[in-house]
Amino acid sequence: MAVKNEKLEKLEKANKSDVAKIGKVLFTQEQITKRAKEIAAEIDRDFEGEDIILLCTLKGSILWMADIMKYMKSDAKIDFIQASSYGASTTSSGIVKISHEPTLNMYEKVVIVIEDIVDTGRTLAYLLPKLQERGPKTVKLCTMLNKNARREDHIEADYIGFEVDDLFIIGYGLDFDQRFRGLPYISYLDMEEVEKL
Ligand code: PRP
Repeated sequence: MAVKNEKLEKLEKANKSDVAKIGKVLFTQEQITKRAKEIAAEIDRDFEGEDIILLCTLKGSILWMADIMKYMKSDAKIDFIQASSYGASTTSSGIVKISHEPTLNMYEKVVIVIEDIVDTGRTLAYLLPKLQERGPKTVKLCTMLNKNARREDHIEADYIGFEVDDLFIIGYGLDFDQRFRGLPYISYLDMEEVEKL
């Protein structure tokens, strides 16, 4: 997520441990692991014997993707797609461009898009029809986080790790200006605490 908020400038100087102190933990590694195992088992059940492609949306989804593929018993293929949305600050502009295309043939395959978060829904409202053009048997959506508060496009995930409120979420793949993706839990930044840094 790109951020151009002057009030947040101090965060640019903060290191991972500073943020770990102020970030309020929403979901621990244990909770995430438990949910990933449950969802991986659901996918195994739903698509037993099918050719599955797990399609990771870069960059935020890499840790959730790793969990899902690790805990699935089915031997899914993996691929990557990157969509960039252009516009200012913390909200996306609605203009989405694919900056990295998947390489596997999706024709007649079960494609499961692995997302870190569905927020306004704009990214997926653009991506999902594009994927349909490749002739997959079906396209499903598995998101680690679902934030309904700011939804603009009607996007409904098939597998949801956790519902979240309208918070500035970091960690477990999610960034603040490309940083803090490596935090091994999901947390959020409280702006008042950022001010005290
Ligand atoms: C984030 C996230 C989703 C999208 C959700 O990606 O990974 O793809 O925004 O927002 P939306 O529902 O409002 O469209 P981002 O563009 O920040 O890229 P990143 O994954 O590289 O951080």
